[in-house]
Amino acid sequence: MLLLAHFLLLLPSVRLVGAFLQNLTVDDTSEDIIYSGPVFQCNTTSSCGIEPALQGLYNHSATFTNDSITFRFQGVAYYADIAIFGSATIELDGVRNPGAPLGVPGTVDYPISQTGLTNDTHTLSIHPTPGQIVLIGFDSLIYTAIFPDTVSSLPDAATPKKKSHAGAIAGGVIGGLAVVFGILLAGLFAHRRKLILWRNQRKGIVLRRMDAASRRNQSEVEPGEEDAKVVPAM
Ligand SMILES: *[C@@H]1O[C@H](CO)[C@@H](O)[C@H](O)[C@H]1NC(C)=O
Ligand SMILES: *[C@@H]1O[C@H](CO)[C@@H](O)[C@H](O)[C@H]1NC(C)=O
Ligand SMILES: *[C@@H]1O[C@H](CO)[C@@H](O)[C@H](O)[C@H]1NC(C)=O
Ligand SMILES: *[C@@H]1O[C@H](CO)[C@@H](O)[C@H](O)[C@H]1NC(C)=O
Ligand SMILES: *[C@@H]1O[C@H](CO)[C@@H](O)[C@H](O)[C@H]1NC(C)=O
Repeated sequence: MLLLAHFLLLLPSVRLVGAFLQNLTVDDTSEDIIYSGPVFQCNTTSSCGIEPALQGLYNHSATFTNDSITFRFQGVAYYADIAIFGSATIELDGVRNPGAPLGVPGTVDYPISQTGLTNDTHTLSIHPTPGQIVLIGFDSLIYTAIFPDTVSSLPDAATPKKKSHAGAIAGGVIGGLAVVFGILLAGLFAHRRKLILWRNQRKGIVLRRMDAASRRNQSEVEPGEEDAKVVPAM
């Protein structure tokens, strides 16, 4: 018997406007996969007579059961690799997958998928046809989730880009602020210089007047009224 499942890899996320599509892989050993009946695992140490196909299994293992398999996910698509020995129904949210046949005795490597789903929580279930001896093998499943643009748990490739972008913005803001601050300072200094010059000028005028007044005082004895008024203004 063969179980030729595709070796699936986590694919890098695709950037959309305002959202990320990301493929997430769920292995047969995940606790998110619910097996209703008794299970047995086929792997490299417990081959179950499917040795030639083990290399093709995701993470080198598949789990078999004679009852239902259920998986709940939040996403817009799923791609599963299963095996059905006997007859089974594959349903999403209680509706039979129209593209998936009921299963043929001895069917191996059964890739099933559905795309274009609404961004909701979906339930994928594989039920054996009642009254028959059915064996369902589960290898792995990929589901496509949509994350908003602000999500932090993104692949490595996306994160540094964002960081450098934020850095550039921060740099720009700081640079801009420095320029504004510089202009303000320059203006302030220019104004201060003007003020000092003007004050010095005034000071000069006052000093000259004081000087003139004192000379007048020395020569005329009477103090100048105007000059006496100017001095307190300093
Ligand atoms: C997810 O995986 C499926 C099946 O391998 C592939 O067709 C699809 O393009 C992938 N989507 C993303 C967003 O990587
Ligand atoms: C692959 O198997 C190992 C060991 O059983 C497990 O720790 C790991 O989570 C598995 N990988 C995935 C993607 O489930
Ligand atoms: C392989 O499967 C057997 C049961 O069939 C299980 O006891 C064992 O832990 C599995 N080994 C690995 C590495 O998953
Ligand atoms: C699955 O097998 C167990 C025995 O291993 C049996 O008791 C049970 O009824 C079987 N379930 C189905 C749905 O055939
Ligand atoms: C899809 O649904 C999840 C969970 O409700 C939500 O966090 C995410 O933003 C949704 N994505 C889009 C593009 O609406």
